[in-house]
Amino acid sequence: MTEIRLNNGVTMPLLGFGTYQITDPEACRRSVATAIETGVRLIDTAQNYGNERAVGEAVRASGVARSELFITSKVWFRNHAGGECAKSVRRSLERMGLDYLDLMLIHWPFGDVYAAWRDLEALYQEGVLRAIGVSNFSPDRLVDLINWSQVTPAVDQVETHLYCQQKTAHRWMVKYGVVHEAYAPLGQSRVNDMFALPAVQAAARAHGKTPVQVALRFLIQQGIAVIPKSVRPERIRENFDVFDFSLTEAEMAALALVDNDAPMIGTATTPERVESSKNWTSREL
Ligand SMILES: NC(=O)c1ccc[n+]([C@@H]2O[C@H](COP(=O)([O-])OP(=O)(O)OC[C@H]3O[C@@H](n4cnc5c(N)ncnc54)[C@H](OP(=O)(O)O)[C@@H]3O)[C@@H](O)[C@H]2O)c1
Repeated sequence: MTEIRLNNGVTMPLLGFGTYQITDPEACRRSVATAIETGVRLIDTAQNYGNERAVGEAVRASGVARSELFITSKVWFRNHAGGECAKSVRRSLERMGLDYLDLMLIHWPFGDVYAAWRDLEALYQEGVLRAIGVSNFSPDRLVDLINWSQVTPAVDQVETHLYCQQKTAHRWMVKYGVVHEAYAPLGQSRVNDMFALPAVQAAARAHGKTPVQVALRFLIQQGIAVIPKSVRPERIRENFDVFDFSLTEAEMAALALVDNDAPMIGTATTPERVESSKNWTSREL
């Protein structure tokens, strides 16, 4: 399985390419081009990453038909209120030189989320966005949005990796037909010891794959989409090469046990985090 069907029938690749922190335009164009040449068809950006323009340039220069690609961006929360969300989506499209996006997400559950969602619903109905979803929504926020909306989010993109498997959030997403997309699937390189864990090493040895490939495969095999980022061609190829093996039930069970249930990046639920968000800035508004 290389794709997953969203709740509106649109199919999304299970493996994509993340572009967070690739701020240099040339590096961004080069790595997106390498990803597409390697076979990756989903590219993930955000208004906040400051690279929508470079992503759009690489996509348009790729020679791959637009309909074959799946492009995701995210609305920054300073753009939520008073119709600003819709305007910011149009600015994103203009920067990228694209007519439509395959998926637009609310990046964080801060500020006037409901106003932003109404705008995304309207753009979705108009066909400017093929699917709409959210990111960093804990299950309580996700369910409340579903309760009070016409369109159920197609995706919730949350920090997910071996040490933060999001089992509770996953159960709620499954219940409501929301696809779970894993950001920072490699833990953003902050905790490399996850790749030295005996369960990871054993599975890697058994299948002749690398620990990183095992970590990605573990998620994909549960129907969780992954969007690893790398600026190095050999790593981009390594990260994409995860469809020629399957982890056994015993290996999946052993990997499930290493979960610490501890997000490093993506928790939006502590008051300290919400308080600090007032000072977060965006590169492109
Ligand atoms: N919605 C959100 O709030 C949110 C937050 C964070 C991220 N994201 C999205 O998720 C994507 C992925 O997350 P992320 O970029 O934060 O972290 P990540 O993909 O978990 O990790 C990226 C780090 O791993 C390294 N790496 C990549 N492939 C490797 C390999 N095969 N072996 C060893 N190291 C490897 C990269 O270094 P090199 O580049 O030097 O190879 C980089 O330091 C982002 O790019 C972004 O699109 C979304």
